[in-house]
Amino acid sequence: MPDTEYPNVYTMKVAVVGVTGLVGTVMCKVLEEQGFPVSEFIPVASERSVGKTVQFKGKDHTVISMADAIAARPDIAIFSAGGKTSLKFAPQFAAVGTTVIDNSSAWRMDPTKKLVVPEVNANVLSAEDKIIANPNCSTIQMVVALAPLHEAFGIKRLVISTYQSFTGTGMQAVKQYNLERKGFEPQAEEMAYHYPIFENCLPHCDIFLENDYTKEEMKLVHETRKILGTDKMGITATAVRVPVNGGHSESVNVEFERPFDIEKVKQILRDAEGIAVLDDLENNKYPMPLYAKDKDEVFVGRIRRDASIENGLNLWIVADNLRKGAATNAVQIAQYLLQHKLVGEAAMATA
Ligand code: A2P
Repeated sequence: MPDTEYPNVYTMKVAVVGVTGLVGTVMCKVLEEQGFPVSEFIPVASERSVGKTVQFKGKDHTVISMADAIAARPDIAIFSAGGKTSLKFAPQFAAVGTTVIDNSSAWRMDPTKKLVVPEVNANVLSAEDKIIANPNCSTIQMVVALAPLHEAFGIKRLVISTYQSFTGTGMQAVKQYNLERKGFEPQAEEMAYHYPIFENCLPHCDIFLENDYTKEEMKLVHETRKILGTDKMGITATAVRVPVNGGHSESVNVEFERPFDIEKVKQILRDAEGIAVLDDLENNKYPMPLYAKDKDEVFVGRIRRDASIENGLNLWIVADNLRKGAATNAVQIAQYLLQHKLVGEAAMATA
């Protein structure tokens, strides 16, 4: 992520809801790294964690309850505490004037809420948006790569296969993996999945739906269409949980409306914001989760024509799911709001 300039007269009261969780922890780290101008840091988690301390910018902060956090009227609340928590509490924060950036799936498909990947569609944001949805991790990295290609050649259809890290399921999945890796058999209540994740692949991310797809697969369908502003694009997906400790990979087969030149595709990707092309076959260089770890870019490689269809392309897309797939994207939304004076004191000053 590039260094960011902020309007220096403005400072922000920032709540991180779900601060003790995997994504919450990375959100704090990204806020620190980006020098986001936090005048007051408000760490929030469930009643279980109230009174515990978390570190932010080298200082200890005491975790407080939702009710106390709402009473503190933060300018921004970045949520990663699950859909139910978000459905219940995001409107309560919004009612006291807080802008909520929510990482759960609760609001993503609500037609009154914006679903934002800053490189693609930050321009849809306004000061009136009090609950803003952060897309699903797999969707974020994919649309960063696809948006500039869609603009150039028009995407007709996508066939997606994902290889998703267990860290995307949260703390419990990490505990399950670590127990299994050390040779222990987790108790039923310690299992995040129906089966072992160590030395295994689970074609089952989130719950199964009536159409026999998983909810994760349908998030890729619906969220991609919403962000790219089309309801026509054909999209089909298979989402697989893999024993990778951080980082989602995706094989994406693209069918364009219009013919393309493969060198032009590579150039468009190289020039696009937020993307690093890693496609040097002679030197065996291609994107991998290990390489993407702790980085903010979306890595794209294995860029090649699919000769089995007209206007077909294959891509391999990898990103750190806890960073660009969650925390970094949320912080980038907050940065955009602040830079464009759409939040807190800055918004009021321009109202
Ligand atoms: P806690 O640690 O107190 O349970 P993960 O997805 O990594 O498991 O993290 C989930 C995060 O959401 C944790 O910080 C968790 O807090 C928080 N959380 C879960 N339920 C609630 C709730 N009802 N209110 C506030 N925070 C919650």
